[in-house]
Amino acid sequence: MTDAAASLPVRRLSNWNAAELQMLVDDYGSPLYVLDLERVRENYRRLAAAFPDAEILYAVKANALGDVLATLREEGAGLECASAGEVQRALEAGASGSAVHYTAVNPPARDLDWIVDAWDDHPELTVTAGSADTIDRLADRGYDGRLCLRVNPGIGAGHHEKVQTGAAAKFGVPAERAVSVLKDAADRGFDVVGIHAHVGSGVSSDQLDDHREFVARLGELARDVNEALRASNSQTGSEATRETSELEFVDVGGGFGVPYRKDEEPLDLASVADATREALGEVDARLTIEPGRYFVADAGVLLTEVNTVKEGRDTVVAGVDAGMTTLIRPAMYDAYHPVRNLTVDAAPDSGTAGSSAAEGRETIPQTVAGPICESGDVFCSDRDLPASERGDLLAIGNAGAYGYEMANQYNSRPRPASVVLDGEDSRLSRRRETVDDVTRVEREARTVRD
Ligand code: LLP
Repeated sequence: MTDAAASLPVRRLSNWNAAELQMLVDDYGSPLYVLDLERVRENYRRLAAAFPDAEILYAVKANALGDVLATLREEGAGLECASAGEVQRALEAGASGSAVHYTAVNPPARDLDWIVDAWDDHPELTVTAGSADTIDRLADRGYDGRLCLRVNPGIGAGHHEKVQTGAAAKFGVPAERAVSVLKDAADRGFDVVGIHAHVGSGVSSDQLDDHREFVARLGELARDVNEALRASNSQTGSEATRETSELEFVDVGGGFGVPYRKDEEPLDLASVADATREALGEVDARLTIEPGRYFVADAGVLLTEVNTVKEGRDTVVAGVDAGMTTLIRPAMYDAYHPVRNLTVDAAPDSGTAGSSAAEGRETIPQTVAGPICESGDVFCSDRDLPASERGDLLAIGNAGAYGYEMANQYNSRPRPASVVLDGEDSRLSRRRETVDDVTRVEREARTVRD
């Protein structure tokens, strides 16, 4: 599906094959998410090669499509899940309990009930708690399985303030309280296996110092925790089992940034890996990482059809059938996503010097806007693109991470379909919703009520 770009460290929007993408929309309609599983594998293998001795979990929230989870499982990734729903998806994708980590952030009772039930069948799953309160709620439900503590190291990084988690009060137990919370949990019979923190999402190379400082704090904490656990073990005189003596892993979270703009370079993974190992220092525990975006961002595009072209007062607007309900990142974080006119690029003589398709379309600044009744519903403003015509197909790049996952039904808009590519094959992975899907839950409530 790409033009000779298979093993590049970054796949740009220009590397996708325009004619093939057009054919997918002919078959499956627009808007359409397309996700290339081979690219997901390449991304996994590159990262795994840079971190050969680390355990790798995939942060399911970046893209929870069953095909993605199954692909990454086959590659050897564990799955980090943010909710009972994600755990269910992980198990449905064939993950064993030992491959599943559930990260509880102010967990709804329904999630905890579900997880503790699932633990009966999958006693090897790991729960990461972000507060002593959550540990109490687990204990109330009879859980004394594998427990990891999310700590708040007081340092955050990431592409936007809304995704810098490492210092946000909402996440984790302040690092200085972690030893006593963990000691207490171990004394109460929990199987204390790890500590965890996540600095934020979309960390770039120029934030490497923050990453280093963040990991150094976790390394220091891991040494303190191990010492405390060993001491508590020798005091109680219990057998030196792994459960009571030492941490099994230190999870430094995800956050590996990817380039969205043409002129941005990919992360130098070797330096990130070196910085991580060096900052962590000597710790009797395995290093765990849990990236999401890195595996899927450039493996996905969103295809959308132009349905309206009009001259505004200061800009030409290309109205498209996808909107902030399909891909919310530009509206929510002012995130930049590349946009490409596939109809122009797929024209038979496009690219030939002096060709009619290339020549006939002037490049002009355009605002690409969706169908939602909010002024924030734009993918880009005044971006230089070939003059759009009604019926053109546009591709929005780097849509594989936090694209469909954050899609919603605002304005009662059904969510789009998702297609996966796997080598030469393409298949529907999730069907397009219909208006009937959108209104069904209300109709069902009426049936119960009446
Ligand atoms: N681990 C935890 C506990 C997390 O909360 C996250 C992301 C990750 C791992 C994976 O981070 P990644 O490697 O994907 O950066 N919706 C935002 C991103 C929010 C990330 C939330 N947590 C966006 O579209 O940029």
